[in-house]
Amino acid sequence: MHGGIEHKVGVLFVCLGNICRSPMAEGAFRAAAQERGLACLIDSAGTASYHTGSPPDQRAIATALDHGIDIAGQSARQIERDDFFRFSHIIALDRANLEDLRAKAPRGSTARLAMLMDPVDGRRGEPVPDPYYGDRAAFDLAWNMIGLGVDAWVARLERETQTQGA
Ligand code: 4NP
Repeated sequence: MHGGIEHKVGVLFVCLGNICRSPMAEGAFRAAAQERGLACLIDSAGTASYHTGSPPDQRAIATALDHGIDIAGQSARQIERDDFFRFSHIIALDRANLEDLRAKAPRGSTARLAMLMDPVDGRRGEPVPDPYYGDRAAFDLAWNMIGLGVDAWVARLERETQTQGA
């Protein structure tokens, strides 16, 4: 096995830079899981390495803070081989991220790959648009979609862990 504390469920949110969308998703999911009592390994990563070691974008930090969630302590990293074994679910923010994940998945990978909006009624496969070159409204739009996706994932994972007799 891969050592450390064993969680039945682990979710890794993945976007391109790991400074805008996936840090907001990580923060929102962490808050929702805590509120609902879902025990879960939670992290985020980027498919690219441009921003490794950087905190989230100031606009992402401000947007999350508007909703009472502090993501300033996060640090960007690129997805790595072990992630495909440590996490039960790797959740892409857009379609390009999902394609990159499929290409990077090592042989024998155990993680299920999906998109953030997949469990949201009528919005399966919908991408969260990249707000990096946008304004605060683009971040608000991303935050709202992320909130819907995260709530639906928490509900789905609660059902999955109950079905497994956890
Ligand atoms: P993210 O946004 O994938 O939501 O973190 C981006 C951040 C940085 C870049 C692109 C998207 N970039 O090109 O540096």
